Amino acid sequence: MNQRISPAKAISGCLSLPGDKSISHRYAMIAAIAEGDSRIANYSTGADCHSTLGCVRALGIEVEGSGTEFTIHGKGLTGLRVPAAGLDAGNSGSTIRMLSGILAGQPFRSRIFGDQSLSRRPMQRVMTPLSEMGARIEAREGKFPPLEIHGGTLRPIDYILPVPSAQVKTCVLFAGLFAEFETSVTEPVRSRDHTEIALREFGAEIAVARRRITVKGRPALTGRELVVPSDLSSAAFFIVAALLIPGSRLTIQGVGLNPTRSALLDFLTGMGARIRIPSLESVNGELIGDLVVEHSDLRGGVIEGELTAALIDEIPVLAVLGAATEEGLTVKDASELRIKETDRIRTVIDNLRRMGVEAEELPDGMVIPGRQRFRAAEFDSLGDHRIAMAFAVAALRGDGESVIHGAEAASVSFPEFWETLARCTSDG
Ligand code: S3P
Repeated sequence: MNQRISPAKAISGCLSLPGDKSISHRYAMIAAIAEGDSRIANYSTGADCHSTLGCVRALGIEVEGSGTEFTIHGKGLTGLRVPAAGLDAGNSGSTIRMLSGILAGQPFRSRIFGDQSLSRRPMQRVMTPLSEMGARIEAREGKFPPLEIHGGTLRPIDYILPVPSAQVKTCVLFAGLFAEFETSVTEPVRSRDHTEIALREFGAEIAVARRRITVKGRPALTGRELVVPSDLSSAAFFIVAALLIPGSRLTIQGVGLNPTRSALLDFLTGMGARIRIPSLESVNGELIGDLVVEHSDLRGGVIEGELTAALIDEIPVLAVLGAATEEGLTVKDASELRIKETDRIRTVIDNLRRMGVEAEELPDGMVIPGRQRFRAAEFDSLGDHRIAMAFAVAALRGDGESVIHGAEAASVSFPEFWETLARCTSDG
C-alpha cells in the first residue's frame, strides 16, 4: 500500500491512541498462566499483540473478546496444552523471545516461527539462558527462528544479561516462574520494567535491588482486571509531528509514562520542547498521564549510553526531528538498531537522504546535522512499521506531496496510524 502525505499547516486536536504494545504482550502471556479470568481493556490493536493472542489460543487458552477488550481464561502454570501446529509469532520479536521463556517450562515440545523479517533476527540471546536453565532449543543455523523448544523441568539461574534487552530479561523471568526457588537477572542498564510490575500485579514475588531482579519460582498467579495505557512509542510520532510543525498544539490522552519509558519526554524537554503533563495517575502499577505538546524550536542533542537503550524504539522518528533542530542529532551506542525489524540505522539514513537530508552513518549510530530542509520524496518502509511512521512524520514538513511505500507496515503496532494522522493534520 502506498500512502500520500501532503505538507501540514498544523497538528492539533485531542487524540486517544492504542494500548501499549509491550504491556499488552505481557498481560496476555501472564494472564494465560494465571488461574482464572483476566479482563484486559485497551489491549493493543497492533498485529504483533494479536500474534501473541494467537499463540496463547494455540496453547489451549480461551480468549474471548474483540477490538481492544479481551478476557483470557487462564489455566494456571500447568494449564497450557500441546499446540496442534507451530506457533506463529508473525513480525513480533517480543512474542517469540518472551513466550520462549514460558514454552521452556512446559512438559512438551513446541515450535515457534515468524515472518521473513523475524526469521533473520538473532535468538541466541534467549537460547543461552534457557539452555542454562535446562531447556533444549534448536534453531535454524543455531540462531534464527523457527525455534524448536523442548521444554521440561527448569533450574533457577543467576543470569547477567550481556545485551540491554527487556525482551531477554522477560524471557528469563518467565522461565523462572516454572523453576524451583529463585531466578535472578542482572541488567547492564535498566530496561523497561513492565514485566516486573505486571508479575507483581498478578501475585508473583519480585524483588528488585538496583539492576538485579529476582523472581520466586512457582507462584500462585491469579487473573486480574487490567487497563493498558496508551503506547508512548506510538505517541512519539505525534509528539514529534507537533514539535516539527509551526502552529501545532496537540493533546494525547492516557499515555503510559512509566519512568523506564519516559526518557523520551525528558530528552525532548531538555532540548526545549514544550510538553506538559496536566494529569497523572497510577493504574495497575503503571503511570498514565495526558500530554499537551506545542510546536517548539529545539536545540538538538546527543543520544548515547543508557539513553540509547531507553529511547531505542523512538530513534527513527527522533532522527527525523534531529534534522530540523538547531544543532542536529548524534546517536551512538545503538548497534541494537541494526537487528530490529530492519537495520534501522540503514533504513533511517537511506530515507533521510531521499528527502535531501544529509546524514552520516556510524557503525553504531548516526550523525544528522541540524537546520535542514525536507524535500518531498518517495520513502520505503521496507516492511518496518516504525520506519513507515517516522517518514510519514517527515513528509509533513516536506515541500510537496510525498509517498510512503509499504505503508501497511504501520499496522504491526498501530493499524489506526494513517487515519489518526489525517484527523489531526490541517493541510498546508
Ligand atoms: C520491547 C523491548 C525492546 C523494544 C521492543 C519491545 C519489550 O526490545 O525494541 O519494541 O516489550 O520488551 P529489546 O528488549 O530487545 O531491546
